[in-house]
Amino acid sequence: MSAIVIDGKQIARDIREEIKNEVAELQQQGFRPGLAVILVGEDPGSQSYVKGKEKGCEEVGIYSRVIRKPDTISQAELLEMIEELNADEQIHGILVQLPLPSHISEQAVIDTISPLKDVDGFTPINIGNMLIGAECFLPCTPHGIVEMVKRIGVPIAGKQVVVVGRSNIVGKPVSMLMLQENATVSICHSKTENLAGITKQADILIVAVGRAKMIGAEHVKPGAVVIDVGVNRLEGKKLVGDVRFDEVKEIASHITPVPGGVGPMTITMLLKNTLEAGKRAAK
Ligand code: GUN
Repeated sequence: MSAIVIDGKQIARDIREEIKNEVAELQQQGFRPGLAVILVGEDPGSQSYVKGKEKGCEEVGIYSRVIRKPDTISQAELLEMIEELNADEQIHGILVQLPLPSHISEQAVIDTISPLKDVDGFTPINIGNMLIGAECFLPCTPHGIVEMVKRIGVPIAGKQVVVVGRSNIVGKPVSMLMLQENATVSICHSKTENLAGITKQADILIVAVGRAKMIGAEHVKPGAVVIDVGVNRLEGKKLVGDVRFDEVKEIASHITPVPGGVGPMTITMLLKNTLEAGKRAAK
């Protein structure tokens, strides 16, 4: 039997509608949440992500300010710009699009963003708070994955969740969030032995490796929920995930497509975090 294809676009639309209503309520009280996005350089992928963020803000009524800088900008100039945004009362969320040019330390940049405006959830303070289950900004892609699984009505507590990939942006934080939801979590990576033996135990399999089509039917237990975080551009420009969709679709119970699965959820959770940052500032 063929899997249910999870409609990330529709779930994202539903959540954006909720955000839009809340933003409208805040605006009636004379308050508008604001997001600043800094884009350094000309990377086409980053430009397209930033456009999506700008469009998302417009859609829900969040004020957005996109600051584009050439890749010759110095680290000191960039840090100074972030300090100014930290103090800017119109701005409640700050996002610096990654990756950055190699002469700039990403960690120094992240460390300069005020944790109160860190709507990416990348600062050590927010990551630490996430780890202990305290109030914080959750990183957008992992948060979007958990929200998506909940909204399709799949139970998480007590289930075996296997995460393939251990990046700071997706693999590690989504593992922690799933643990917080009382799943039993395993994390696999490039040094894992007997990968298929472990992934085949998953009730929920989350793949965030960045290698086109690496996970196939031999890695998946019949009836599993498969979440594909990969976004890989093939030579013909076609976007594909880390999962061989056509083959896994035949054995999974639910599967996310690429594009149209996890992607739309990421920007949506950024909008949700910005709304939250605005609400906190308005108090
Ligand atoms: N580059 C790729 N994904 C992300 C993200 O979630 N946030 C930022 N700031 N940069 C990214």
